[in-house]
Amino acid sequence: MNRVIRREMIVPNMHVLVLEAPEIATKVKPGQFVIVRHDDEGERIPLSVADWDEEKGTLTIVFMEVGASTGQLASLKAGDNVATCVGPLGNPTEIAKFGTVMCVAGCYGIGSMYPVVRALKEAGNRIITVTEGRSSYLLYWTDRFVRVSDKILNITRDGSQGTKGHASRLPDIINGLPARPDRVIVNGCTFLMAYTSEVTRQLGIPTVVNLNPIMTDGTGMCGVCRVTVAGQMKFACVDGPEFSGHEVDWKEFLARRKAYLEEEALFFRHSAPNQIVHEGGKCHS
Ligand SMILES: Cc1cc2nc3c(=O)[nH]c(=O)nc-3n(C[C@H](O)[C@H](O)[C@H](O)COP(=O)(O)OP(=O)(O)OC[C@H]3O[C@@H](n4cnc5c(N)ncnc54)[C@H](O)[C@@H]3O)c2cc1C
Ligand code: FES
Repeated sequence: MNRVIRREMIVPNMHVLVLEAPEIATKVKPGQFVIVRHDDEGERIPLSVADWDEEKGTLTIVFMEVGASTGQLASLKAGDNVATCVGPLGNPTEIAKFGTVMCVAGCYGIGSMYPVVRALKEAGNRIITVTEGRSSYLLYWTDRFVRVSDKILNITRDGSQGTKGHASRLPDIINGLPARPDRVIVNGCTFLMAYTSEVTRQLGIPTVVNLNPIMTDGTGMCGVCRVTVAGQMKFACVDGPEFSGHEVDWKEFLARRKAYLEEEALFFRHSAPNQIVHEGGKCHS
């Protein structure tokens, strides 16, 4: 069991969860994830680690309330326990001196991008952080990103902050920079990752995406997280979750993500019939 230190909603539908997990906090690296289970009967869900404190032995997770399991996590209070928090899982993000790195983040990916940006900055890169959301009130952690980025840009659907539109405005943003980035990293919803990858493929910029398929065991045994990358079958939990966005079979990826939609809706109706999922927190995908 892992004790909840803090759980709070930071923007509509988006929560920060701080868990006591001293063993994970000493080992975790940017880009890795944990599998969390609310209670003994709960579903195992993968969540990226957005920060950690080795001294206090805590992990910070940013999660979006989209269904039954994230709904259960959203009701946690300080002092409660979750039944399981296993990790760190997956391969860490490759951290090296690439030059200029553009880090594009939306939705819960803003949280998971933070340790990646911090580590890339420490490795001597010039960082351009781009945060994306439906509206300015859905963007968060700007104060953190300011400390580790050279430039921060925003894209909002309604134009309330930064460039108006969605990922389709990235070519304008990239073409407006003094020099093209040497690498692009994308964390967030499938739409953002797939669209950005298509943009950067055309511009010839290497692009890394942090894939979010449905997962069960997270250790390469069940095959649920199967994805096709460069024509080869990969398991996102052990071979990823990061892959070249230019090599992912996005059509198959999207189809597999929807495989359990009916069951998820049924479970959600039974477990949280009165729960309201705010429109503002919905993903673009
Ligand atoms: C490696 C990895 C890291 C992740 N990190 C985070 C994170 O840091 N924060 C976070 O909020 N979520 C993260 N996710 C997604 C998260 O695991 C799912 O949102 C969660 O499992 C949904 O569970 P649920 O029961 O609440 O919703 P469900 O009832 O299972 O699903 C509700 C809705 O969410 C959609 N959904 C289901 N699985 C995913 C998914 N993997 N990604 C996006 N939408 C999904 C469904 O299609 C459905 O429309 C990550 C996924 C992976 C694979
Ligand atoms: S989640 Fe089971 S193989 Fe990846």
